[in-house]
Amino acid sequence: MASKPIIIPDNNNNYSIEQLSVPTHYREYLSNVMIPRGLIKDRIEKLAQEIHEDYQDKSIHLVCVLKGGEKIFADLTNSLHTLNSRYGQKSIPITHDFIKASSYINTQTSGSVNVSTDHKQLESLKDKHILLVEDIIDTGKTIVALKEIISKHNPKSLKVISLLIKRINHSNGFVPDYCGFSIPNEFVVGYCLDYNEHFRDLQHICVLNTLGKNSFKA
Ligand code: HPA
Ligand code: MG
Repeated sequence: MASKPIIIPDNNNNYSIEQLSVPTHYREYLSNVMIPRGLIKDRIEKLAQEIHEDYQDKSIHLVCVLKGGEKIFADLTNSLHTLNSRYGQKSIPITHDFIKASSYINTQTSGSVNVSTDHKQLESLKDKHILLVEDIIDTGKTIVALKEIISKHNPKSLKVISLLIKRINHSNGFVPDYCGFSIPNEFVVGYCLDYNEHFRDLQHICVLNTLGKNSFKA
C-alpha cells in the first residue's frame, strides 16, 4: 500500500540557501531550499519499500521519463536493488527503459506534449508490469498523454510514481500511485528538475526566484 505524500506547506521557507550547501553559481537565483536532498533520498527509500512489497511475485519494468525523472529513477533503482539483495528475502526482477517527454518553456507549459518514442520501444511494453517514473506532476497533461500511449500497447499493468505533485487549480486531477511530496504552486528546480535546461545539477529541490526566471529565460 502506498503512503500519502509528505505535504510541504504553502509559504514554507524553512531552509535558507545559507544553511545548506548550494553551488555558488546558483545561489543568487534561488529564494530557498524547499526539499533538501537527504529528505528526498529518505522518501524515495520508503517508496521503494512500498513498491517492493506491492510487486512481490511480479517483475517490474521501470520506464523513466526523461530528462527530469533521471535522479528519482537512479535513487529508486538503487533502493530496489538493495532490497533485492537482502538475505533470505524474495527478490523482484527489474528491467528499465527511457522515454522522453517535454512540454515546458520558461515556467509555462506549452500546451502540447512531445513524446519521443518509437514503435519498437512501445511494442516492447506488451505484457509487462510498467511503472512510469516521473519527476513532477502539475497540470497532469504529460502523464495522462503518456499513459494513453502506453496503455494502447497492452501492458500487464501500468502505474506511476512521481517524486512531486504540485497543488495547482488547473490540474486535471491526476493522482500518481506512488508520490514523494505534495508541493505548493511554486516553480522548483534541482534534483534534475530544470528551468530551460538549467539547474538540473543542483542537488536540493529549490524555489527559483525572479532573478533566476529572468536570467535564464528562453
Ligand atoms: N519545475 C520544473 N519543471 C516543471 C515544474 C517545476 O516547478 N512544473 C512542471 N514542470
Ligand atoms: Mg517530468
